[in-house]
Amino acid sequence: MYTREIQAIIMLSRFSKSLAVAGKHASQMTVRCASVQPVKIGEKSEKIFARESKYGAHNYAPLGVALNKGEGVYVWDVEGNKYFDFLSAYSAVNQGHCHPRIIKALTDQASKLTLTSRAFYNNLLGEYEEYITKLFGYDKVLPMNTGVEGGETACKLARKWAYKVKGIPKNQAITIFAEGNFWGRTLGAVSSSTDPSAYEEYGPFMPGFDIVAYNDLNALEEKVKNPNVCAFMVEPIQGEAGVVVPHEGYLKGVRDLCTKYNVLWIADEVQTGLARTGRRLAVDHENVKPDLLILGKALSGGVLPVSAVLANDEVMLTIQPGEHGSTYGGNPLACMVAMESLKVLEEEKLAENAERLGQILRQELNTLPKDRVKVVRGKGLLNALVIDPEIGAGKVCKNLLMNGLLAKPTHDDIIRFAPPLVINENQLNECIDIIKSTINNM
Ligand SMILES: Cc1ncc(COP(=O)(O)O)c(C=O)c1O
Repeated sequence: MYTREIQAIIMLSRFSKSLAVAGKHASQMTVRCASVQPVKIGEKSEKIFARESKYGAHNYAPLGVALNKGEGVYVWDVEGNKYFDFLSAYSAVNQGHCHPRIIKALTDQASKLTLTSRAFYNNLLGEYEEYITKLFGYDKVLPMNTGVEGGETACKLARKWAYKVKGIPKNQAITIFAEGNFWGRTLGAVSSSTDPSAYEEYGPFMPGFDIVAYNDLNALEEKVKNPNVCAFMVEPIQGEAGVVVPHEGYLKGVRDLCTKYNVLWIADEVQTGLARTGRRLAVDHENVKPDLLILGKALSGGVLPVSAVLANDEVMLTIQPGEHGSTYGGNPLACMVAMESLKVLEEEKLAENAERLGQILRQELNTLPKDRVKVVRGKGLLNALVIDPEIGAGKVCKNLLMNGLLAKPTHDDIIRFAPPLVINENQLNECIDIIKSTINNM
């Protein structure tokens, strides 16, 4: 049943592609669409879908493609179909799949020393700490593993600072989060969520958390005036909410308000950081510096979970030995991989590439008919399309898959486009043609 449905889509997509080609300049089409072959999903894939569904928890609903290989901007499925990856594992693979330098760092170090725990020193942690703190301009770093642990760590640091430095009465500290935030799935993270599918039936929730409208400085000022507020945690661009870009000046306004009311600004750059938006950090677009910076995802180029919280001594030294940690945090394998991943971003000038190609992508996507694509937004190579709900983001993503491009809806009507930052202009043009012809033919 499933196969027949897919085959029908392939036929439709082949037919509509030939119509699209007919109306285009021939030489342009041969360059851009040469590698576009409608994909075939067969028995091998179906077996994988069925086994996962039988033995795995149903906490995800993946698109119907089973991948087994990745290189740069491409991934391949078990049937041998090749795709452009326009999700980049939610921006964890900014450096491209299996970047040779990162894989070499990983495999070289893996055969020497992987984990010592923090019960002992290792030879790489200090080197990594020096490298990352100098790169981002903070006194200290606290290494963790996943992005959500980075968020938890930042929230804990803010509370310690509240009691030890700001002088907030014991257990009275309030942390403010922006409406529409997403920073993971722990009880702490879902306690601050405004999305019922994230928090419903997971209560009771964390006390001392409060919500403010995103991109609203007046509302923020009303909140941070309260002397018991210790921190405001916010994404410079809200990724999971649908690549929501605040107005220019918002980040500067956040900085000013937090300084004025002695509140820590925690920037969650787990998704927006590390060159994704066309700058090393998204806050660099407004030349502002948060008090705490959370990084994750691309900090390891997608090869293992590595996250970090950066802050200055006034905040970081409030935590004493034994008060916070993680068995894997700061392991030598992660340190080596993170250093190499950061060097690749810097040396291959991936922020510059994201900035330049992001502008081309948005410019081209803006030529799509407005009755199908309501809005195109984003910065660098973190972008989203708001699709006419009648068409539906899920349907568009299924058709994109059939045409060799993988993207995932963030909501019923929003599709995020976030390719690996190593993508070149020819590849991007090919992707633009796939996206345009897919949407135009729906
Ligand atoms: C902005 C942001 N913060 C934190 C996280 C959580 O990261 P992880 O899934 O590695 O825990 C995510 C994940 O998508 C994110 O987008």
